[in-house]
Amino acid sequence: MEAIRVGLLGIGTVGSGTWHVLNRNQSEIMGRAGREIKITMVADHHTERAKAVVGGQCEVVSDGNLVVTNPDIDIVVELIGGYDAAKDLVLKAIANGKHVVTANKALLAVHGDTIFRAAKDKGVIIAFEAAVAGGIPIIKALREGLTANRIEWIAGIINGTTNFILSEMREKGLDFDTTLKAAQTLGYAEADPTFDIEGIDAAHKATLMSAIAFGIPVQFDKIHVEGITRLDSLDIRYAEQLGYRIKLLGITRRMENGIELRVHPALIPAERLIANVEGAMNAVLVKSDAVGASLYYGKGAGAEPTASAVIADLVDIARLEAVDPEHRVPYLAFQPDAMRDTPILPISEVTTSYYLRLKVKDQPGVLADITRLLADHSISIDAFLQKEPREGETLVDIIILTHQTQEKNINAAIAQIEKLRTVAGSVTRIRLEELE
Ligand code: HSE
Repeated sequence: MEAIRVGLLGIGTVGSGTWHVLNRNQSEIMGRAGREIKITMVADHHTERAKAVVGGQCEVVSDGNLVVTNPDIDIVVELIGGYDAAKDLVLKAIANGKHVVTANKALLAVHGDTIFRAAKDKGVIIAFEAAVAGGIPIIKALREGLTANRIEWIAGIINGTTNFILSEMREKGLDFDTTLKAAQTLGYAEADPTFDIEGIDAAHKATLMSAIAFGIPVQFDKIHVEGITRLDSLDIRYAEQLGYRIKLLGITRRMENGIELRVHPALIPAERLIANVEGAMNAVLVKSDAVGASLYYGKGAGAEPTASAVIADLVDIARLEAVDPEHRVPYLAFQPDAMRDTPILPISEVTTSYYLRLKVKDQPGVLADITRLLADHSISIDAFLQKEPREGETLVDIIILTHQTQEKNINAAIAQIEKLRTVAGSVTRIRLEELE
């Protein structure tokens, strides 16, 4: 069988990893794919850097258009990232009948519907294992491995940068800004870390997993996103004293009236396996009816872990290319006519538990007032902790863990609690997920 010919758009970290792993493991990969997978063309603005990687073994150009319009290319691998140029080239590749492999979660989360529709009309494959959790084959697991299951919820640590920062804050007791700077020095955080620390990168990934799990369109505009920038290391410490760890979670959950889709810091019980995922590692916990809980763990970024996902997609395409498009694995797991427009619930209707930290005067009746306001909003208390006043202060910190309630209830209760004369400043509120 003839080799399947691949054109790479971008040969930075992941592109170089793809080149090296494909060359190193070519005979095993060929044994699995049934034919050779050959990168025959690379486009990168840094042509000298690209030439240094491929060492004269394939054509190097600076203009990606030359790859996506080349009749001798079967698969285009998009590793440019971002929205505009990548979208343009991906749509051109599709229009030219090429299958596309992409690691670009931002592009698919925001423009996925346009891209998947164009690909369907043209009968080509869009594969994106590398877009979610790098080397962990979570797309394969959700789309194929768990295909017998009704998925109930997914909770993932799907951003290594923020997990690294949270692990460091917990272990060293440092604040967010200091830890971010250290992470940047060590190369764990980008010079511009906005997408990671504000939760946007995790939100792109959660959006894609939600679509696959529940057969809904990708809807990045509906996800609720909070990053870790406002987290106080004090809360990480108090959470630990109560038996919890704080993680940035991407969560999507099937509810009776819609689907929850959210990214935010959350307390999780320290005894859960996922709570012990530390440093830059990723993990995705899936709750489905037949399997129960299943956990997927590994490296969510980096040259070779991400290359592993890119090449897995190349192998899939090499195997499935000849299959009638109607009989291939659907892009988002469900056949187009089985997709549903189930609403994404607004954050006010999300149901979860809460960690509250309040600074209060240490005098009779304070707790009674607070617990009455919680009870007025049908919020039940699960645990309570009162700390000694901090040095030089007369006010005390109290921490309350609640049972599950809707977000609008806790917000209404907090608004009233903050008006009490015995409560100083605003109440810190962090969501708590038992992940049972
Ligand atoms: N920046 C991401 C992370 C990896 O920190 O996990 C690419 O999505």
